[in-house]
Amino acid sequence: MDIKESRRHIRIASLNLSHYVCVDKDGEGMGRTLNVSESGILLEIYFPIDMNQELSLAIAFEDTLLDISGKVVHCKAVKGERFRTGIEFLKVDGSDRQFLKKFVKTFREQKMDQAVLETDFPELNLVKRGKVRDVYEVDQDLLIVATDRISAYDVVMPDPVPGKGKILTQISLFWFDVMSDLADNHVISGDPGDYPEICKPYAEKLRGRSMLVKKAEPLPIECIVRGYISGSGWKSYKESGTVCGIQLPGGLKESEKLPEPLFTPSTKAETGEHDINISFDEAAEIIGTPLAEKVRSLSLEIYRKGTELADKKGIIIADTKFEFGLIGDGLILIDEVLTPDSSRFWPKASYKAGGAQKSFDKQYVRDYLVSINWNKKPPAPFLPKEVVTNTHEKYSEALKMLTGKVVLQSEKV
Ligand SMILES: Nc1ncnc2c1ncn2[C@@H]1O[C@H](COP(=O)(O)OP(=O)(O)OP(=O)(O)O)[C@@H](O)[C@H]1O
Ligand SMILES: [Mg+2]
Repeated sequence: MDIKESRRHIRIASLNLSHYVCVDKDGEGMGRTLNVSESGILLEIYFPIDMNQELSLAIAFEDTLLDISGKVVHCKAVKGERFRTGIEFLKVDGSDRQFLKKFVKTFREQKMDQAVLETDFPELNLVKRGKVRDVYEVDQDLLIVATDRISAYDVVMPDPVPGKGKILTQISLFWFDVMSDLADNHVISGDPGDYPEICKPYAEKLRGRSMLVKKAEPLPIECIVRGYISGSGWKSYKESGTVCGIQLPGGLKESEKLPEPLFTPSTKAETGEHDINISFDEAAEIIGTPLAEKVRSLSLEIYRKGTELADKKGIIIADTKFEFGLIGDGLILIDEVLTPDSSRFWPKASYKAGGAQKSFDKQYVRDYLVSINWNKKPPAPFLPKEVVTNTHEKYSEALKMLTGKVVLQSEKV
């Protein structure tokens, strides 16, 4: 299809059900479909479009190309230089309408069955859309919904990994339970049947991927524990022999087990920024020494217990990040715990120090992104189907090894 031939200033040509190439007079950008109905389409694209502008769209679906005209009825900047753009279809008749109906139906089915890229629960108060989680306020508590979004280098990919949100939620619930004798945590329930009445209409969407939690004041530091030297720790060690100001013995190899697990905190960056590693003293300056000591010892204890258990199931947890929060004076473990998103998970069977390791986490996606020389700035490139499928497999295997549970890609658990 010749998407370059712009009939009226902008032409939007679909690649498939959820992705679009948008061409304006200055070049082309990418976008994705957030929603579609018979009267219009909601896109997320990387340049603004003037309101009321008429444009032509091409919807490609099942080997057919439908040309329709639309009018921009909404265009609002969202984070990450993206624009949420609503386009109302102008007249669609006869067989074109039939085609559009089928497209809408298939899009909806796919969205329902396969992946949750973004949630929209109009009756609930959305307080934050993180890179992965949509957080709603429900009475005094929070409803945290893990979507299937995947981020790499702090940028959210345009493609979801179907079932990932459920996998992360199930892994976290497993660990919150295992760690409950070491640390109080934020979980009230992971079962939509227990949620307040106002959540009931959304129970099916919420099942498996959500938790009702106690709202805490998150500490402004991330509690990172490293048991093996890898990633930014390895980079720093090669340059200076230290990690976050901690002197390490000479001659360590990449991915080698450290003599003792290290507590290496970082700042908690605002959305779009990167976290910065800090020393323990700097962490103590930010949150006070007594609290810093407490989260250090808790983080190390939780990490130790987690690695012992994971080791028995064939997984090395090389490093991880915890978040703690305060409710009054009470310190609790919040967010997610020992998941492949917050940790490096390596299969024990193939572990060998002296290089990078195979992993159950998104290292696979990172490697793909490096292989295509992406500049790590939005917009992120589309992920090939096999990268999405293999990533699902890896997350899924981690869940299975740890808990015995399975989440299918066309998941209905
Ligand atoms: N019990 C809780 N009380 C308050 N906030 C919480 C609680 N549990 C988790 N959070 C916050 O909810 C958000 C979860 O969203 P997600 O993991 O997608 O964010 P993120 O992109 O990692 O966000 P950030 O960039 O702020 O770390 C995080 O900001 C986390 O700090
Ligand atoms: Mg997070």
